[in-house]
Amino acid sequence: NKAQAWSARFSEPVSDLVKRYTASVGFDQRLARQDIQGSLAHAEMLAAVGVISNEDYAAIQKGMASILEEIDAGRFAWSIDLEDVHLNIEKRLVELIGDAGKRLHTGRSRNDQVATDIRLWVRGEIDHALELLGHMRHALAGLALEHAATILPGFTHLQVAQPVTFGHHLLAYAEMFGRDAERLADCRKRVNRLPLGAAALAGTTFPIDRERVATTLGFDGVCRNSLDAVSDRDFAIEFCAAAALIMMHISRLSEELVLWMSPRVGFIDLADRFCTGSSIMPQKKNPDVPELARGKTGRVYGHLMALLTLMKGQPLAYNKDNQEDKEGLFDAADTIRDTLTIFADLIGGIRVRPEAMRQAALQGYATATDLADYLVRKGVPFRDAHEAVARAVRACEDKRCDLSDLALEDLQSFHSAIGQDVYGFLTLEGSVAARAHTGGTAPERVRAEAERILAQTAAA
Ligand code: ARG
Repeated sequence: NKAQAWSARFSEPVSDLVKRYTASVGFDQRLARQDIQGSLAHAEMLAAVGVISNEDYAAIQKGMASILEEIDAGRFAWSIDLEDVHLNIEKRLVELIGDAGKRLHTGRSRNDQVATDIRLWVRGEIDHALELLGHMRHALAGLALEHAATILPGFTHLQVAQPVTFGHHLLAYAEMFGRDAERLADCRKRVNRLPLGAAALAGTTFPIDRERVATTLGFDGVCRNSLDAVSDRDFAIEFCAAAALIMMHISRLSEELVLWMSPRVGFIDLADRFCTGSSIMPQKKNPDVPELARGKTGRVYGHLMALLTLMKGQPLAYNKDNQEDKEGLFDAADTIRDTLTIFADLIGGIRVRPEAMRQAALQGYATATDLADYLVRKGVPFRDAHEAVARAVRACEDKRCDLSDLALEDLQSFHSAIGQDVYGFLTLEGSVAARAHTGGTAPERVRAEAERILAQTAAA
């Protein structure tokens, strides 16, 4: 079994099943680009400090360039005999350039190599996700600006509570995705540290220059403890936690989109390109995309839990358990990337039905609180006002009418402080316009917030 890098130490080859069981090349070949990038930075440093010659470094550069070409063209012959992406690439390098290729691994181990590759990969995914979150927030703010004054019933307990504006509702999600972006940006600081130089676990006897490698690779600094550098994956866990929160927010939004699109509610219609029909029921237009996104949230939560569990029992330093970090991490990143890309487009394509929203808002005594507040301004203590309005609502329920449909004498029978001016406060428009403080639902406020977010995400 001469194929394996450590074969001299072994007297029998591993069985085929064990080979498949221990190999990761089937999935970690996704790290090829980062692996080559890391190797080149390492080789450049080895040459700079005189551990390898400049000729060796030049040969390594050339060899890696051909390997990258082979990979891009789909011509690279990945072999399960070589276990993982690192050994596959190294073996090919040696085939192409001989001894110079064999010198590349000086002062390095696959342990610090793989940790570096993953960090580079996660960093790239974070940067992409940040861009996508910007698009998403831009789309939400754009639609919010259009619907800054569109009345929507606000719900608590899924019961009509108070009128809000649809724009305000959309901007609630823009806030959530804004925090998600902050979280990713913060996580990036801890991702962006260089493990290389830790070697297998204890560092290396060669006069390496880790800071130089860090600069070459765009890291903000180096991992300060070699044991920690090769073994910890908390940065990947943090990324998955941020991804899980993104999906949680997407899932809440999805739940609302599904509800709003239900013919019983009819607040919105999604563009056809995000829906599918039924193979049996001709009338159907199903909101498949939000439903699937809601469903996919579960797998991202699962990856987070798997990674946490993967780490919890590991003694220092590197253990092969860590090879299991990749598939879930990749899938979490793929899921948020696809989901955010689709959703930014989906939001822009929402058709809003303001009349249905308005009708729904008219049906749940949404301005009852406004009537209570009105009484308070006339000097009535809030608890008494609340009581009087509750009685008025009961009367409306009996008569099957809205508060604003009651005659002044009827209203006055619930409290004598009510005057003709009350009707201005019982309208949906009056109710939202009166909430013009920071964070409020008034159209002027929503416009200002939407514009702020649009400007913030303009480049996106
Ligand atoms: N494929 C391995 C991983 O994903 C690379 C590091 C292997 N190191 C080792 N000593 N077996 O973690």
